[in-house]
Amino acid sequence: MRMTEPVPDELAQPLAGIDLYDPARYATSSQHDAWHRLRRDAPVWPQETADGIRFWSVTRYRDVAGVLMDDKNFSSAYGTILAVAGGDSAGGQTINLMDQPRHADVRLPAMRLMSTHAVRNRAEQVRQRVRQLVAGCFDTGGVVDVAALMLHLPMAAVGETIGLPEPVWADLPRWAMAGVAPEDPQYADGTPAQTLRKAHHRLIEVFSDLVRHKQAHPGDDVVSVLLGLDFGGRPMDPHEVLLNCYSFAMGAVTTTAQVASHLVLALAERPAAWQLLRSRPDLVPTAVEESLRWASPTNHLLRRTVAPVEVAGTRLEAGELVAAWVASANRDESVFADPYRFDPQRTHNPHLAFGLGPHRCIGGPPAQQVLGLLLAEMTARLEGFQVAGPVTHLRSNFINGITSLPVDFQPVAARRAAVIA
Ligand code: HEM
Repeated sequence: MRMTEPVPDELAQPLAGIDLYDPARYATSSQHDAWHRLRRDAPVWPQETADGIRFWSVTRYRDVAGVLMDDKNFSSAYGTILAVAGGDSAGGQTINLMDQPRHADVRLPAMRLMSTHAVRNRAEQVRQRVRQLVAGCFDTGGVVDVAALMLHLPMAAVGETIGLPEPVWADLPRWAMAGVAPEDPQYADGTPAQTLRKAHHRLIEVFSDLVRHKQAHPGDDVVSVLLGLDFGGRPMDPHEVLLNCYSFAMGAVTTTAQVASHLVLALAERPAAWQLLRSRPDLVPTAVEESLRWASPTNHLLRRTVAPVEVAGTRLEAGELVAAWVASANRDESVFADPYRFDPQRTHNPHLAFGLGPHRCIGGPPAQQVLGLLLAEMTARLEGFQVAGPVTHLRSNFINGITSLPVDFQPVAARRAAVIA
């Protein structure tokens, strides 16, 4: 987002003017002023969606972490994003929308494929894919839309692990983005309802083919693991497998690409941080963690209370919706020193970008790996880069996305000479 910290005047605005729901607001500015104000003055704040459904916003780190850790009182089965505050039709069927004990049936076997160990074994293959992706712009330089380019980074990281065939890697990211932000002009294909329908249709078609293929030819991938599961004493139904493929692919695509774009933007705007990274490649791991905190690609995670529960002194009845604002928690001044500063050397960085507790992101290790490999390529191959045109942001209260980011890249002189020769 263009604005990365609250504007002092905004803090004096009445709380009643705060609107964390309206997707359009996220396209024009960040919500840091609102989050800052709520953390300070109203840590549990009620609001309604456009359809008049009440939800409570929780914005302090401590409370966001508390909600995410407590799956006994805060259920995921009703839906986890405000766009489906009326209830998600896949509730109870996909890994992210399940409560215990079924959730563990899916999560534990799938985790093996995404473990740090498994990811390390794939490092060389992923490095080659990252190199292929950036070769054009890092070798010859010039202006490239980084937002469009980075949409393909997640498949480089986990396309094979999920089991997705390479021919669908090119189109899947756009459909996935249309699925989470059908109101954004970049992804619109008709009205938001038509866009959503088309995106779902295309994705379901891909995943149906995939499930059929893996039934006949199982491999070492997420889809095959799901097909072979003991799901509470029965195999998982192919339709449930398909819905879970959807969750894995959406989880990967809609987040990883955005962190990469935010990272490039943050460094383009901070030449000192870029020069520091060039001279200290050992800082890549802390810089990756900082980019995750900085970008916080999922602004919020929704839960529904299953029993009366108290959050920061406010009693919530059973059946209330609670939006835990991860993006706010990641700027909480009581946890992060100088939270509005992008600091690639930040060592105390317990960010919640991957969530926390039972549903903490299963794809964390591959995401960290691919972002590290991207940054390593940048520091090795680029002299510098600057924003070369208007930056636009996604119209979504869920994903903190960048839809256009023109960047002018300058390769290191030796490499440019080698390419020209
Ligand atoms: C920078 C990249 C990523 C970020 C910031 C991110 C963020 C998150 C967050 C915040 C959650 C928790 C959701 C909740 O509590 O309701 C989550 C869960 C999940 N993510 Fe990611 N994610 C990333 C990459 C990936 C990748 C690469 C995959 C692909 C395999 C993936 C697949 C999933 C799945 C399947 C879940 C559900 C886990 C569960 O419910 O047990 N994510 N992710």
